[in-house]
Amino acid sequence: METSPTTSITLTVNGRAHTLDAEPRQLLVELLRGPLGLTGTHVGCDTSQCGACTVLLDGQAVKSCSVLAVQAAGRAVTTIEGLSAPDAPLHPLQDAFSACHGLQCGFCTPGMVMSACALLAENPQPTDAQIQHALEGNLCRCTGYVNIVAAVKQAATTMAGGAK
Ligand code: FES
Ligand code: FES
Repeated sequence: METSPTTSITLTVNGRAHTLDAEPRQLLVELLRGPLGLTGTHVGCDTSQCGACTVLLDGQAVKSCSVLAVQAAGRAVTTIEGLSAPDAPLHPLQDAFSACHGLQCGFCTPGMVMSACALLAENPQPTDAQIQHALEGNLCRCTGYVNIVAAVKQAATTMAGGAK
C-alpha cells in the first residue's frame, strides 16, 4: 500500500511536549490513541456526531476525529488522562460523574467530561439549559442525560468552593 509523506510536528499533550511524524491525512484522535497511547479518548462514530472523541485544543472542546493531527502542531491538547495524574485525586468532574451516576457503560464519559470541562472554564456556574446546550454534541445511549447534568452542576459547586 502506498504511504503518504509524513510531517514532523511538535505539540503539547497533557503538559508534555511531543515531536512525532504525522501523515497529512492522520486524525488527531489517531495520533492520541496510536503513537501516544492515550486510549481514554474514544472513537464512537468517526463522523463528528457522537462526541466520544472530545478533547481540549488550546482550551476549546473539539472533536478529535474532525481535526487533523497536523492542525494540532504548536498547540496544547488536553485529554481525559490530563485531568488528574494516576496517583492524584480525581478531578471534581470525574468525582461528580461517579457520585451522581452520570455514567453507565462509560463509553461517552471521557468526551462528556472534556466538554463539561471547557464549559466550566468559560462559565463556572452554568444553568441546566446552558449545560444541556454545551453537551448537545455529546451523545449518551445509556443515562438519559439527567444525571450527567446533575454531575456537571455538582462539579461546578465543588469547584466554586475552592476545591481543585
Ligand atoms: S468519534 Fe468523533 S464525534 Fe464520534
Ligand atoms: S454511559 Fe454509556 S454511552 Fe454514556
